[in-house]
Amino acid sequence: MTQCCINPSILSADFVNLEAELNRISTADAVHVDVMDNHFVPNLTIGLPVVQRIQAVSPVPLDAHLMIADADRWAPGFADAGLASVTFHAEAAIAPIKLARELRARGSKAGMALRPGTPVEPYLDMLEELDMLLIMTVEPGFGGQAFLDLTLPKIRRARKAIEGSGIKVAIQVDGGITEDTITRAAEAGANVFVAGSAVYGAEDPAAAIDRLRRAGSKTLRSAAE
Ligand code: DX5
Ligand code: ZN
Repeated sequence: MTQCCINPSILSADFVNLEAELNRISTADAVHVDVMDNHFVPNLTIGLPVVQRIQAVSPVPLDAHLMIADADRWAPGFADAGLASVTFHAEAAIAPIKLARELRARGSKAGMALRPGTPVEPYLDMLEELDMLLIMTVEPGFGGQAFLDLTLPKIRRARKAIEGSGIKVAIQVDGGITEDTITRAAEAGANVFVAGSAVYGAEDPAAAIDRLRRAGSKTLRSAAE
């Protein structure tokens, strides 16, 4: 069965107390770190120096989501920092195959993200260059938005293409994931789930992770039957 991963996004955490906030999600599979440059998206978060400090103290591996322009130039530096996984946006990369290879050569897993309106078909032939395909389920830029059900057919098409190819690529979804929407995303074929407000907005983030994991695994299990 495909493994169900829950990656909380620190975008909804308290940025003044990041180390404590990271320790509250130590049962997660990874921590999702949203890097925004105010060019690719209309919001600004943190850059490499802060990500390096997060990497130094985090109890779980880092899953960086780079919402930045000129990904070809900036993404390799995040792999050099020793991050487990680095995801760039297809819309922000001029040479996505070269970039994915560079990330892997530097020791990171290579992820590529698609905005809700970006079709997956032009990228199907490069799936073997990737460890993870991130299908955005909201327009990137802000936490707390509502899940876009119109992305479900794209998740289904991506899963079908991956299954048919025999290549091992995780499908990550990010945006509006709750105990309710995680089921729909998992049914469609996603297996790595980013959740910001659903985890950090909860009184007990570890319990929220647990609930999401149970809901996601249950759906993945029944899909495999
Ligand atoms: C949005 C970010 C997400 C965000 C998700 O652009 O990429 O990772 O933190 O937040 P929720 O889960 O609240 O939609
Ligand atoms: Zn994200």
